[in-house]
Amino acid sequence: MTDRVTFTAMEHGTREEYDLISAHDAANAASLPDRVLDWLRSMDGDSPYRISRLEHLLQTATRAERDGADDETIVCALLHDIGDVLAPANHSQVAAALLAPFVGEKNHWIVKHHGLFQGYYWFHHYGLDRDARDSFKDHEYYDACVDFCARWDQVSFDPDYDTLPLEHFEPLVRALFAREPRPFF
Ligand SMILES: [Fe+2]
Ligand SMILES: [Fe+2]
Repeated sequence: MTDRVTFTAMEHGTREEYDLISAHDAANAASLPDRVLDWLRSMDGDSPYRISRLEHLLQTATRAERDGADDETIVCALLHDIGDVLAPANHSQVAAALLAPFVGEKNHWIVKHHGLFQGYYWFHHYGLDRDARDSFKDHEYYDACVDFCARWDQVSFDPDYDTLPLEHFEPLVRALFAREPRPFF
């Protein structure tokens, strides 16, 4: 049986009890890439696009890799829409939060803002401002986020593209989440 703490309110916990919880948390963190990969597989379902949400992510990552992107950027391309199912109203922010402890500031910013930047391709059909992203025109990562959308994201809905399988990206996913995470509380 799992060892358990004795307290019922956090304020009464001892260092030894928090060590017990930390050991459990470490095991949980070690299996994070397995859960991420399982979640991606769960996105291989029906879709109104011509390919599944998983295939869109794989195609985006494949294009990033073929453009010479580094491993961190490829994983960000692979995971940029992983928030779709859980957070349809703010999927970009959810993906960015998952990645934040493991990636640099630039990739985090791009993932976090890609939804707004992708709006350039469809907002106008709903009377919205397709140039809303230009509120970030002077931001140092504006051009990079425009490029992410133009070259990799918005074009990755093609059933005829030679997309690499998830197994190809698995080592990159495991390596990224094996990094020492920066704490975000
Ligand atoms: Fe997205
Ligand atoms: Fe996308």
